[in-house]
Amino acid sequence: MIHQPVLLEETINCLMGDPNGLYIDCTLGGGGHIRALIARLGAQARVIAIDRDQQILQMSSQQLKDPRIHFVHADFRELRNTIDPVDWGQVEGIMIDLGVSSFQLDNAQRGFSFHQDADLDMRMDTSSNLKAWDIINLYPEDELADIIYRWGEERYSRRIAGAIAKARSIKTIDTTLELVDIIKQAVPAHYRREKHPARRTFQAIRMAVNDELGAIEEVLPQAVKALKSGGKLAIITFHSLEDRMVKRFLTEKSQNCICPPRQPVCTCGGQRAQLRLLNRRPLTASDEECLNNHRARSAKLRVAQKI
Ligand SMILES: C[S@@+](CC[C@H](N)C(=O)[O-])C[C@H]1O[C@@H](n2cnc3c(N)ncnc32)[C@H](O)[C@@H]1O
Repeated sequence: MIHQPVLLEETINCLMGDPNGLYIDCTLGGGGHIRALIARLGAQARVIAIDRDQQILQMSSQQLKDPRIHFVHADFRELRNTIDPVDWGQVEGIMIDLGVSSFQLDNAQRGFSFHQDADLDMRMDTSSNLKAWDIINLYPEDELADIIYRWGEERYSRRIAGAIAKARSIKTIDTTLELVDIIKQAVPAHYRREKHPARRTFQAIRMAVNDELGAIEEVLPQAVKALKSGGKLAIITFHSLEDRMVKRFLTEKSQNCICPPRQPVCTCGGQRAQLRLLNRRPLTASDEECLNNHRARSAKLRVAQKI
């Protein structure tokens, strides 16, 4: 399946500044956003395209083949190291489109999908050490339940973690469909008839394997520093925890003082706002886009400009 970029026009419209400036796409994926961006950029523009997934990076770099794009295999939490020091503080626009790409979901061997049988992997960067197998088979039951509850917002997290612990005491859980079966047995029948019962657990395990929230927390302050004055940061989230983290960060950086409103004396050292929010409420996809692309339903776009 082709990855359909979400909120495409909205993101590029918000991000565009100097057509010959330097831009960064922190989440290249199938290249949908970057393709729309470079179509609007001039001959002198440069774009750094980052992805932690080597396979996707290779595929997209072959398809895009544009001398203005410099492809980098990295985790975007290493943003500082992917930019030439002379360009630090000179970036015109940075976009971050979080989550997984359809290429990852559809590639059965990667273990992201609860529809296809594969080893329990779920690593975006296949050179990293932690696999879904390790979390499912080795993490203490309580920790597993917490991960499934917090990152999957799964109401049956304890039951599911209990069922996993019981199953693995007999034999290791090695494949995605083995895990799906265990989840199906653990949840009540009515829940099995709603959305796919393994959806939330798979999301939570994927987020843990790839430390997705940790990466966002680390990239945001670096992105602000990398931008030039007037440069813009556009972030698309798909999960309430991601969005909350992004919203809190952008709001905090757009305030002159971050002390509680009722506090009589400023104790934060008189922080100066570094960002201006370009949309107080996040932009969401139109009904039409949601109809054509179900991923768009949970997408939220927040954009801020460096002061
Ligand atoms: C939703 S897709 C991006 C889709 C892309 N905007 C497009 O139009 O095709 C997210 C991509 O970001 C990558 N990714 C996720 N977290 C990352 C991180 N911390 N560092 C680098 N790449 C990451 C994933 O491997 C995936 O390819």
